[in-house]
Amino acid sequence: MSGKILLVGFGPGAREQMTGRALAAIEEADVVIGYSTYIKLVAELLDGKEVVRKGMTEEIDRCIEAYEQAKQGKTVALISSGDIGVYGMAGPTYEVLFKSGWTPASEIKVEVIPGSTALSSCASLVGAPLTHDFCSISLSDLLTPWPTIAARIEAAGRADFVTALYNPKSGRRTQQIVEAQRILLQHRNPATPVAIVKSAYRKRQNIQMVRLDQMAECDIGMLTTVIIGNSTTYLQEGLMITPRGYANKYDDLTGEALAGEQRGRSLSMGLEGWKGCVRQYLRANEKTTLRQTASHFNATNGEILSAIAEAAEGDGAGQFSAAAVQSDQHQAVIAAARQWGLLRAVVRSDAGAVSELIIHAEEFSQRGEWLNIETPYFHLHIHWAEVKQGWLIRRGESLRGVHFTNARGETLFNLSLVRQEEQFDPEALAAFEQDWPTLSAPSTHSREMP
Ligand SMILES: C[S@@+](CC[C@H](N)C(=O)[O-])C[C@H]1O[C@@H](n2cnc3c(N)ncnc32)[C@H](O)[C@@H]1O
Repeated sequence: MSGKILLVGFGPGAREQMTGRALAAIEEADVVIGYSTYIKLVAELLDGKEVVRKGMTEEIDRCIEAYEQAKQGKTVALISSGDIGVYGMAGPTYEVLFKSGWTPASEIKVEVIPGSTALSSCASLVGAPLTHDFCSISLSDLLTPWPTIAARIEAAGRADFVTALYNPKSGRRTQQIVEAQRILLQHRNPATPVAIVKSAYRKRQNIQMVRLDQMAECDIGMLTTVIIGNSTTYLQEGLMITPRGYANKYDDLTGEALAGEQRGRSLSMGLEGWKGCVRQYLRANEKTTLRQTASHFNATNGEILSAIAEAAEGDGAGQFSAAAVQSDQHQAVIAAARQWGLLRAVVRSDAGAVSELIIHAEEFSQRGEWLNIETPYFHLHIHWAEVKQGWLIRRGESLRGVHFTNARGETLFNLSLVRQEEQFDPEALAAFEQDWPTLSAPSTHSREMP
């Protein structure tokens, strides 16, 4: 006899929020296994069935029990609130099954039945907070190290995701929500809307709409999901709305595409168009620097340099021109720099401290993967193996130099020719200009800018 394991997500709790397949799966089951609170929530569907109640910490027992019963030829429903695949029992069940030698080709069949997860059901009660990119993070550090959770909160904050927090607080875990608030406030306005939804679609349903800086003091428990808006989320008439982005593209009143935008095409700031926007910005802001531009577009120096390098006639980058160094020429740049006279080497630490050294390229030496500058006064060590791309750069009459960026497009260090009394040394300048075409990769997009 071949048994069956049905992994059933029954949604937030109310029967009308269950899917037809979840109802049918429970109906079909001989045995229903679940955490005692879940069993209570579906009690009216369990007449005549064998019911196995397990405690909160007995997750693996629930999976083993399901397998044992299925091996006896029974149809077993292992139930979980929300979606069983979201912080639910689907993963542990497959882990137990695989450890026991089960494969999808085995006699025992397994079906995962999806349900409305807490972030969807909670969002539905407070408006439309998830209409743009969002993520979910569980604050439970019982099985996940806190530094991993903190890094995810930090990334969500930095990348401006709407963020749903599962397992935000319990009797013992009270400080995680305080830490989450502290990390997010480094990136987000204190007035950012937050929805705190407790027991969605259950008897004790309770909703609080607060600001991010009030979040940690609110009534939050084990059955709460917290939804934190992104930088565009707003509250209107008590509803939390995250705009989809139509206002960036279409006129509110006429529905016509805004100037520069086209119906059915990516935004001008989309993948294909955004570098053109960078060049337009550089043309309009003659005084801006590379770093300021990168910060304005929330991009890396490498991305801005590639936008500059792709300039073409009629679509220049203002005062800037740039060219990617051919990948086999990175060492040659250091050799060429020996003819560029005095150089300013700039290196920034992760925390933003800036080292500026006036050097001569002759002071570079290479030892293994390290490029070293050693004088009696300082030692500078650059991990050369981290360099993925070199960029030659000019800015009007004030800058000639080269940036070396890593795989993420961040500048590892840059060298620029030193000016004295606002003038470059003519020999150094001539050497730099002569080296530019030899070192640079031919660009498919651009012609060299004057
Ligand atoms: C172990 S996770 C289970 C998630 C579940 N599988 C789901 O997809 O919703 C438990 C967490 O889900 C959230 N949750 C589950 N049901 C909820 C409900 N009815 N209302 C609000 N939050 C809920 C809470 O954050 C709770 O701490």
